[in-house]
Amino acid sequence: MKTKMTELFGIQYPIMCGGMMWLCKPELCAAISNAGALGNITAANYQDGDDLREAIKQTRALTAKPFSVNLTLLPSFRVTKEIYRQWLDVCREQKVTALEISGTPVDKFFSTDVIKELHDAGVKLIHKVGSVRHAVHAAQAGYDAVIAAGIEEGGHPLNDDVTTMVLTPRIVESVNIPVITAGGIADGRGLAAALILGASGVMMASRFVATSDCRVNQKVKDELVKRQEFETTIYGKSIGLQGRTLINDISKKILDLENQHATLQDLAPYLAGSRQAAVWSEGDINSGLIPVGQSIGLIHDVVSCKELMERMIKEAEDILKNTPKRLGI
Ligand SMILES: Cc1cc2nc3c(=O)[nH]c(=O)nc-3n(C[C@H](O)[C@H](O)[C@H](O)COP(=O)(O)O)c2cc1C
Repeated sequence: MKTKMTELFGIQYPIMCGGMMWLCKPELCAAISNAGALGNITAANYQDGDDLREAIKQTRALTAKPFSVNLTLLPSFRVTKEIYRQWLDVCREQKVTALEISGTPVDKFFSTDVIKELHDAGVKLIHKVGSVRHAVHAAQAGYDAVIAAGIEEGGHPLNDDVTTMVLTPRIVESVNIPVITAGGIADGRGLAAALILGASGVMMASRFVATSDCRVNQKVKDELVKRQEFETTIYGKSIGLQGRTLINDISKKILDLENQHATLQDLAPYLAGSRQAAVWSEGDINSGLIPVGQSIGLIHDVVSCKELMERMIKEAEDILKNTPKRLGI
């Protein structure tokens, strides 16, 4: 299946993995890339530039295929501007295939020169956005592609709250660079739908958690198979940084506190990243936030990334081929 996305990154299938704090590390990244899609290393999983360089080298020992690095440029208590700069410089030095930027665009976070520096090193730039205005900015700034991420997505969807179904065609009609759809995609039906809407491919994250290649406790994978599409919620609107997460004891507590006009300081103990570490490693579902999207309703089994990619492509191809016949057109 060839699209502008497969050509841009030199990959077999128009599917990429989105950045995932805690999870997007060399083994999962390489498994996805070896399966023909674009794997992801998430910079925030690493202490500094040296640490990220080591992860990139480890990934290259596991795959010769292209992969991307996620840089989440959001205000952080932990990450200083100096560390962000180190991560960026390492991606340039290591000539990674692509940088997936979320949050503030790189040209605004650093400077406009950064885009030329990355392009000179052969790094493709993709910006994950939740609105037409942010997509237009990215296209004008010189990004190579945008990801249209609807409110269904796990992580931090933009507070415009626009669905993937509307956002994808709105962005496709507004920019002249490839658009990749994210938020609510977990199978070949979503891939076929995204292509019909004018996208060049899809990005998924929640679906990759429930694969045998993802290093999280089996209890988390089983929980995602069990839970349905209505079992996530949006939190954080009151503090200006909303997120989508699985409904559990912690998300209910946070929503209760927000209803009582809690401050960021009141919420901080429940938002703490260290709580998530316990979820992923111990499988203790109620100990922290689990930032997955509505696509969990479409996850029915735990398979390898290779099987998932092959299945998705076959399903999408069948749909694209047979739909005109089914509709008699
Ligand atoms: C466990 C998890 C952690 C995530 N962490 C990040 C992150 O650190 N940075 C980021 O830009 N997006 C993050 N995301 C969002 C994904 O990259 C992606 O945009 C989104 O999950 C796509 O929607 P889907 O979950 O329906 O596939 C995360 C998503 C998940 C499921």
